[in-house]
Amino acid sequence: MSKNHFPQSFLWGGSFSANQAEGGYKSAGKGVSQTDLIPLNKSSKITSSFELNNYLADENSYFPRRTGIDFFNQFDEDLALISELGINSLRISIAWSRIFPNGDETTPNEQGLAFYKKVIDKLSLLGIEPVITISHYEMPVKLITNYGGWKNRKLIDFYTNYVQTLLHAFPEVKYWLTFNQINSGLTDPFSALGLLINDYASKELLQHDKFQAMHHQLVATAKVKQIAQQMNSSVLIGASVYDMTSYPRSPEPNDVLSNQESILISDFCSDVLVRGRYSKFILNNFKKNGVDLDITAEDQRLLLHNTIDFLGISYYVTTVVDQSTPSLFEINDWNIRDETSNKHLKATKWGWGIDPVGLRIALRRYTDKYPSMPIMILENGLGAEETLFSKKKIHDSYRIDYLRKHLSQLQLSIQEGVNVIGYFYWSPIDIVSSGSGQMHKRYGLIYVDLNDFGIGSGKRIKKDSFYWYKQYIE
Ligand code: BG6
Repeated sequence: MSKNHFPQSFLWGGSFSANQAEGGYKSAGKGVSQTDLIPLNKSSKITSSFELNNYLADENSYFPRRTGIDFFNQFDEDLALISELGINSLRISIAWSRIFPNGDETTPNEQGLAFYKKVIDKLSLLGIEPVITISHYEMPVKLITNYGGWKNRKLIDFYTNYVQTLLHAFPEVKYWLTFNQINSGLTDPFSALGLLINDYASKELLQHDKFQAMHHQLVATAKVKQIAQQMNSSVLIGASVYDMTSYPRSPEPNDVLSNQESILISDFCSDVLVRGRYSKFILNNFKKNGVDLDITAEDQRLLLHNTIDFLGISYYVTTVVDQSTPSLFEINDWNIRDETSNKHLKATKWGWGIDPVGLRIALRRYTDKYPSMPIMILENGLGAEETLFSKKKIHDSYRIDYLRKHLSQLQLSIQEGVNVIGYFYWSPIDIVSSGSGQMHKRYGLIYVDLNDFGIGSGKRIKKDSFYWYKQYIE
C-alpha cells in the first residue's frame, strides 16, 4: 500500500463500449445490433416491434452508433493516445453482432474475431490490461426479432456459445464481465434485455418477462463462470451493476422505508451474483406482485456454485425517494427517478446530481453486504457540452473538479477498508451518448471533433483533464 492508500496493484483505467465508439456498421461481416437502430435524440429505448421494424427499414434518419467515433478504423491511433494517460488497464466491450451477426449461428465470424485480436494485441503492446464486457447494452437484433430477447431461455445457449468462442480466441484476457449493469434490466428493458415494452398486453406480463429475462442473464453469468473455470483457471469473471444509491426525501419513516426498499431491489442482482441465491426480500416481492418465475433446480445449483469473482459498479448519480416514488420493481424507465431535487447537490446540464460522497456511501454498502468481494469502479464520469477555443483547447476545470472529488472519496473509502481494486474513468475519449445518442454530451478526457451528426474533422485533442488524470495516476 503506498502512502496515498491506493494499492500498488491498483488498476487505473478508462472505460467505454463498442456500440458507442466503434462505428464500422456492417463492416467485416458485422450483423445489425439493436443499438444500430437507435436514431439521434431518441432515448436509448425502442418500445415496440412496429418502431423496431420502421428503424430496420429506415434509410433516411441518422443513426449515430453506426459511425460512432470510428474506433473500428482508428483504434490503433486511439489506443496509443489513450495509453499516454499512463493507465494500466482499459475496459472495452465486444460487439456480439461482430462475432455472431445474427446471434444464433454456431460458427463465428472470423473477421470479427480478427478485429478484436488486433485491439487486444495493441493493448498488450502498450502494457495495458484489458477488462472486457461481453455484452454492453447490445445484442444482434435478430435475437430480438426472432426470439424475443432475453426472456427466451434459448438466449443462454446462444450467449454461452458466444462467450466460449471469446474465451478460446483470447486466452490472454484475464478480466471478463458478462453484462453491463445487469440490474439495469429493471429500468431499461430494451437496452439490457431486448424487450419491447409496448408489445405487452398487460403490465403483469411485462413484469414477468422482465424478471424472467434478468434471471436468464444471472444464470448465463453463472454458466460463464463454470465454463471459464473449466477452460482456464486464471480467468476472472465479473458482472457490473448500475449503482442506484438514493436518499429518503424526509425523515418521515415511510419515506425512509420506501428508500430502503428501493435500494434492496436495486441490489437484487448483485445479491444473487455474490451470494448465489435470491434474497427472501426479492422472492417475497415476486410473490406479492404475482411474478411466478421459471427457476429450475439446475438454475439454483448453477447460481449457488458459480458466484462472480469481482463486482463492477457504475457510479454517476444519486436520487431522492419518498413514499410516492414508483417502486423500482414496477418502473420501466430510469428517467422517472428524481435525480434533480437534492438541493445539496449541483447537477450537470443533463440534470444528474454530482455526488462524490454518495460514492463512499455506496462503497460502504457493498463492502458491508459483500465483505470479501473485490470491487472495480467501472464507470464514473461527467458529461458536459464543450466547444473548442480558438487555440484548440478544452479547459474542463469542472471535470478535473469532478475527478478530484470522486477520487478523494475513493481514497477515503479505501482507507476505511473497502476492497476497490480498480477505477475506470468513463470515458477516456468522447463517444456517442448512450442515453441520447448525442455527441455533444461529452465525457472524454480527449475531445473528438465531431458533432451530433458525425460531421467534423474527427481530430482528437487532449483536454486539460487528460493531463490532470495522467498526473494523478503518476
Ligand atoms: C452508463 C452506461 O450507465 O451510463 C454507458 O453503461 C453510458 O453506456 C453512461 O454511456 C452514461 O450515460 P449517457 O447516457 O450519458 O451516455
